[in-house]
Amino acid sequence: MKHLISTLFISACMVSAAGASELRDTALEYFKPLPSTIPSVKDNPITPEKIVLGKALFFDPRLSASGVFSCYSCHNLATGGDDNLETSIGHGWQKGPRNSPTVLNAVLNEAQFWDGRAEDLKAQAKGPIQAGVEMANTPETVVATLMSMPQYTEWFSAAFAEDAKPVSFDNMAKAIEAFEATLITPSPFDAFLNGDDDAMTPEAEKGLALFVDKGCVACHSGVNLGGQGYYPFGLIEKPGAEILPPDDKGRFAVTETVDDEYVFRASPLRNVAVTAPYFHSGKVWDLKVAVQVMAESQLGEALSDEEADLIVAFMDSLTGSVPEVTVPVLPAETRTTPRPTA
Ligand code: HEM
Ligand code: HEM
Repeated sequence: MKHLISTLFISACMVSAAGASELRDTALEYFKPLPSTIPSVKDNPITPEKIVLGKALFFDPRLSASGVFSCYSCHNLATGGDDNLETSIGHGWQKGPRNSPTVLNAVLNEAQFWDGRAEDLKAQAKGPIQAGVEMANTPETVVATLMSMPQYTEWFSAAFAEDAKPVSFDNMAKAIEAFEATLITPSPFDAFLNGDDDAMTPEAEKGLALFVDKGCVACHSGVNLGGQGYYPFGLIEKPGAEILPPDDKGRFAVTETVDDEYVFRASPLRNVAVTAPYFHSGKVWDLKVAVQVMAESQLGEALSDEEADLIVAFMDSLTGSVPEVTVPVLPAETRTTPRPTA
């Protein structure tokens, strides 16, 4: 009897191992595990010196006109790399028009922002510093601020030794990009893709199979499960104005092509379970509801309650470990550091 039970147990394990390996083969047709080293980026070799500098810049509120907002204000690495608000609050307590996406793994997105208007992270970083509703500063004041602190000029000289003028707005953006490239978060899903049959819960595995079978992978694939292509939000059925506000036409503002009205980048889904609220409008707080909205609006399909729960279990397996980031001690201000203006 004991022998029979253990034979049954072993064959059950073999079946589930075979199931896991088949599921992994299918998954690998659509997804890729995260790289195990810091990814390289275009025109910006990543060095330890740039990472140290970029980290300081990321945390430094003196890059904003008010001295209040840093990148970290809206991309808090302790809360999923975003701000957990419907839409971000920036300069003068203004509410911006869109939800803040996570910076975690953002280096692996093909383009940045909900509408993909920045080619890469170095182009992206110059945006918020100058945006009136975010940090409301100017490149000139930023450079004057950085030049006024000897520790910054030393860090810039070490990071950009071959440049005649190491302290510049462009080099600031490159250093921030280098730091952001380190923000890679391996998850149970990666361990599963890399061969660990026990990394994901049985529910998460079922959710993964559904995610593939239902067709979510048509838009959410690749290493970041999204972040690669643009699709109409409401491909089959437009969500109501409470989720898709009519005044934000998405990629239309970038390309001015009618076909791009209400087209957005398919969201990267890594760490999605910890980055509520959802969608560019930030109007949906519950991940299960976001999943149901997607199924209806993009696939024209109503998921059963159980299916939605399983897909959410799969999304939970995308929550990765955030690299340890110690809070940097920032360079001290001097008499010549520009004062906050508002
Ligand atoms: C978008 C980084 C400052 C709010 C992004 C993205 C990155 C990023 C990488 C794109 C992510 C993606 O598309 O997946 C930074 C850096 C900052 C900074 C490096 C400092 C230089 C801020 C601040 C706020 C903010 C201070 C809030 C006041 C947002 C919002 C978006 C965004 C709302 C989406 C905007 C859109 O798609 O139109 N940020 N951010 N960011 N960030 Fe930041
Ligand atoms: C956004 C899941 C199918 C395109 C999202 C979000 C989730 C999600 C959770 C919100 C992410 C966030 O706010 O951070 C799913 C699931 C699907 C599915 C579970 C299958 C049931 C699709 C398909 C397409 C698509 C088939 C393309 C035709 C998009 C786009 C966004 C998005 C464009 C951004 C919407 C916005 O502007 O806010 N998806 N998705 N999705 N997805 Fe999907």
